[in-house]
Amino acid sequence: MPTPTPKRIAVTGAAGQICYALLFRIAKGDVYGPDQPVILQLLDLPQAQAAVRGVVMELEDCAFPLLVDTIVTDDPTVAFRDADAAFFVGSRPRSKGMERRDLLSANAEIFRVQGRALNEAAKRDAKVVVVGNPANTNAMILAANAPDFPTENVTSMIRLDHNRALTQLAARAGVAVGDIDRLAVWGNHSPTMFADWTEAVSGGRLLSEIIDDETWYRETLIPDVARRGTAIIEARGASSAASAANAAIDHMHDWIHGSDGKWVSMGVHSTGAHGIPEGLMFGVPVVCKDGSYERVEGLSFNEFQNGMMARTIAELEEEREAVAALLG
Ligand code: NAD
Ligand code: LMR
Repeated sequence: MPTPTPKRIAVTGAAGQICYALLFRIAKGDVYGPDQPVILQLLDLPQAQAAVRGVVMELEDCAFPLLVDTIVTDDPTVAFRDADAAFFVGSRPRSKGMERRDLLSANAEIFRVQGRALNEAAKRDAKVVVVGNPANTNAMILAANAPDFPTENVTSMIRLDHNRALTQLAARAGVAVGDIDRLAVWGNHSPTMFADWTEAVSGGRLLSEIIDDETWYRETLIPDVARRGTAIIEARGASSAASAANAAIDHMHDWIHGSDGKWVSMGVHSTGAHGIPEGLMFGVPVVCKDGSYERVEGLSFNEFQNGMMARTIAELEEEREAVAALLG
């Protein structure tokens, strides 16, 4: 069989802690699979170029058979040139005592500039995931500044929260993580996110019936998932990195290869379904198939769900208002 043309994968923030986990897994084949060669196109700030070159030395020392080339640059247009996929990680992380929305003023401008470069340089069918916080609103800024690039292909990461909820639910229900389906994490990657077990099942049974403890769900599961990032910062003195990289890989892998009919959560541009205002970048359940994602639609919500949705919608609307000048 002829060797496939390498896929070009742009990654921003290449000198940072998430990329120190992410790049090695991409090069190993965890995104495109074990038969697909890749080229890494790495972006970071001018002052971080030496550190990126150090990471590249380590990539070389792994002798990954699939890694055919690595480009290092501080120019976003070079990084995104002909990209098939792009991970937007580069931006400031929060430290103790901050909320992710406090990063908006520091990080929003990055996504305006990089949106223009994406518009100019990437393939029109490139798949984009924004990891840098506040991820939903940064992705909205990116899409707004890339008017010739399909908005459907700009997504934000809420998969880490989905994975966090899966583990907590599986442990409480005494089932395997891989047996859970129809879990959804709605809204903003922030304390208002809503890990929703209403439809979640394992082995054909509702998790809410297996666990049978609504108080635990409302007062422990939902806030623990929403506050997990803070708990990690408090424990580690730095924000999540390996688990964030893993979630980014899961997000992109499933988008490319499919989610086997299962629900996964992705931040996507709202079409107005489920009462979510059009245009917000919003965590929703999707099913991935044949290189695209399909939103799960037609669900009806109870009063509790409506209240949780309203809270996270209001926060994302406030964030949109705060960056209105960058949305064109
Ligand atoms: P880090 O500080 O270790 O690395 C960030 C890197 O981005 C640095 O190398 C920095 O030089 C680079 N950078 C800054 N501005 C840039 C620009 N304009 N262009 C290119 N590169 C630039 O941070 P990290 O721990 O790797 O986290 C990165 C981001 O990911 C943070 O915003 C963090 O909050 C976020 N994050 C999101 C999730 C999620 O679930 N969505 C999870 C974890 C972390
Ligand atoms: C996380 O959820 O771990 C990341 O968004 C980092 C953070 O700031 O909490």
